[in-house]
Amino acid sequence: MENRSQWGTRLGFLMAAMGSAIGLGNIWRFPATAYENGGGAFFLPYLFALLTAGIPLLIMEYTIGHKYRGSAPRSYRKISKGMEWIGWWQVGVSFIISTYYPVIIAWAIMYAFFSFGTQWGADPTAFFVGDYLQLGDPGTFGALVPMVAIPLLVVWAIVLFTLNRGVKKGIEAANKIFIPALAIIFTIIVIRAVTLPGAMDGLDAFFKPDWSTITDGSVWVAAYGQIFFSLSIAFAIMITYSSYLPKKSDITNNAFITGFANSSFELLAGIGVFAALGFMASQSGVAVSEVVQGGVGLAFMVFPEIISQMPASGFFGFLFFASLVLAGLSSLISISETYIAGVQEKFNISRGKAVLLGGGLATLLSLLFATQGGLNLLDTVDHFINNYGVALSGLFEVVAIAWFAKLLKDFQAHADDISDIKLGAWWKLCLGVITPIVLGFMMLQNLKNEIS
Ligand code: PFF
Ligand code: NA
Repeated sequence: MENRSQWGTRLGFLMAAMGSAIGLGNIWRFPATAYENGGGAFFLPYLFALLTAGIPLLIMEYTIGHKYRGSAPRSYRKISKGMEWIGWWQVGVSFIISTYYPVIIAWAIMYAFFSFGTQWGADPTAFFVGDYLQLGDPGTFGALVPMVAIPLLVVWAIVLFTLNRGVKKGIEAANKIFIPALAIIFTIIVIRAVTLPGAMDGLDAFFKPDWSTITDGSVWVAAYGQIFFSLSIAFAIMITYSSYLPKKSDITNNAFITGFANSSFELLAGIGVFAALGFMASQSGVAVSEVVQGGVGLAFMVFPEIISQMPASGFFGFLFFASLVLAGLSSLISISETYIAGVQEKFNISRGKAVLLGGGLATLLSLLFATQGGLNLLDTVDHFINNYGVALSGLFEVVAIAWFAKLLKDFQAHADDISDIKLGAWWKLCLGVITPIVLGFMMLQNLKNEIS
């Protein structure tokens, strides 16, 4: 039997899995998505998606990794030779994400320092796209921007150094520092945010339910999309991470813990972000709805403005961007491990060589996003990954396992054998029926939006 790397402790695995799950998706994607899809009413489809797709799929991916003990391509190959490509597809999606995700971390590193002295001045948007990114014409690359490229190389140095040290000494050790640190920093930020004047207006806007959205199919698609992205499902990550679990591991319980921890962090982020938006709205005398944003705009245009208006702005700005860096790094480590493990096993090379090859290529490609055309390119690639990469990955996965290989029953027996919580028929129903239908619907919806 081969000597496969293993996590040192159960907590170590959980920290790594949470590290992958908790990322920019929690901090800047969830709050705006919830707000735009019914506010307080969004929690219903969201919880439904978590319980019918998120956690069931997490259990399935943990089972695949634990049972076949391989990277995603190898695990699918063990299921059936004709399914290896699904593993590579998922690894490929992760690889692409890993070329632009680190660029955002690089910006956050710079912004942690820009916070002192609020270097973005009176117009943070103009500063971000003009002074900092030196944004060029769409469709062109232009020159490399050193203030992006240099921190980008720092990000890669940290990530590749960590991955080179292996599962226990690298990935586990890093996450055991990053995740507790992130939890502490983020709690401080949220406490500060909810005690700012105007915070309650923000929370009102966030939690106020708009029940009319509940019958809108696109709201349900948004809920499932958020859950998939946020739990790092169908990206080969959770299969890879669980392939390092010891034989005796409680799969089902671990999946519930990961799922609920991620959602708790998401809720916490929603509260923090909207409290801060409420503060900003009250300072500028406008409605909260006028300042709501998500994504890059929220973190690098709106937040700098909020930070400028806060007392002790340097300190809180630094903490906010540091939390983006920590959340981002732990996710980037997980995405990159998918192809490093895949390449290592496929070509039978050492971890070090795989890190050099896979990580080296990703580093080179990521430099494209550190050019003057970087932000435009990032938007385009991110759009395709989010709308097609994720839904297709999930669809291939459940259809292959549930319908073609008909493995759900075997998997249930495998998980039940080692887990405290026993899976019932609900689990097979969720994966065999509900999830494929929802994912199919999601694909159609996204295609429809593309055409119209
Ligand atoms: N789950 C992470 C988040 O919510 O931010 C993001 C993510 C990490 C997505 C890794 C995809 C991925 F491969
Ligand atoms: Na997440």
